[in-house]
Amino acid sequence: MRIGILGSGLMGGKLGTLFARAGHEVVFSYARSEQKLKRLARAAGAKARAGTPRAAAKHADAVLLAVHWLRFDEVLEKAGELSGKVVITCSLPMNKANTELVVAHTSSGAEELAKKIPTARVVAAFGTVPSEVFFDVYETRRRSRPPSLVYYGDDRRAKRVAAQLITDLGFEPVDAGPLRIARYAEPFTLLIAQLAYETKGGPELAYRFERYR
Ligand SMILES: NC(=O)c1ccc[n+]([C@@H]2O[C@H](COP(=O)([O-])OP(=O)(O)OC[C@H]3O[C@@H](n4cnc5c(N)ncnc54)[C@H](OP(=O)(O)O)[C@@H]3O)[C@@H](O)[C@H]2O)c1
Repeated sequence: MRIGILGSGLMGGKLGTLFARAGHEVVFSYARSEQKLKRLARAAGAKARAGTPRAAAKHADAVLLAVHWLRFDEVLEKAGELSGKVVITCSLPMNKANTELVVAHTSSGAEELAKKIPTARVVAAFGTVPSEVFFDVYETRRRSRPPSLVYYGDDRRAKRVAAQLITDLGFEPVDAGPLRIARYAEPFTLLIAQLAYETKGGPELAYRFERYR
């Protein structure tokens, strides 16, 4: 798959690197330094390169949106035409200080994003775990009880793509339903962040759902 990364920070940098290691073609874009994008691409291997947001989006089968909520409009404008594209968001609608959700209960960051790009195929995935855990999960993939990772969206094709990428990274994809489920999943992520960053044990934390019947 060809994957454009919009936002190459903690999430986009790590996810893009692992997508490339898993065999996908990756274009890293949108950081404050072009050198950083090039460095990331070099480290991610032959399948990765650096580019502009427009270049990252243009030929992509899927685009990963991994920027702060306050940067959505700018990065979407720079990415250009996204009609018909699968847009995977891992972004949360946080305030500037990253302390509170600015959208909740009656809407969500994922739904607000879908309103901004109504002709794109928006799906939410990867945003419910800390970036610090991705490499560990990838390195221990194919174990018998992989961690879960929820995804949710209204577009079937986008959900298939998200589930494939989640599997490629070593998680078990859990289809949580339509995009409005982001109203529950986004606050859930703050619980995960609390456990990852404010309790002992470190941020290399994932979760697993078990069904008993
Ligand atoms: N970090 C996590 O563990 C985590 C977990 C779940 C969800 N999320 C969500 O995922 C999204 C991304 O989080 P993150 O932690 O990856 O953020 P981050 O590390 O700050 O990455 C954001 C990216 O946007 C770039 N950027 C910011 N301002 C820019 C500007 N003016 N011009 C060009 N590029 C700019 C940054 O550039 P630089 O590289 O130059 O800084 C960086 O590459 C957020 O919505 C967050 O809420 C994060």
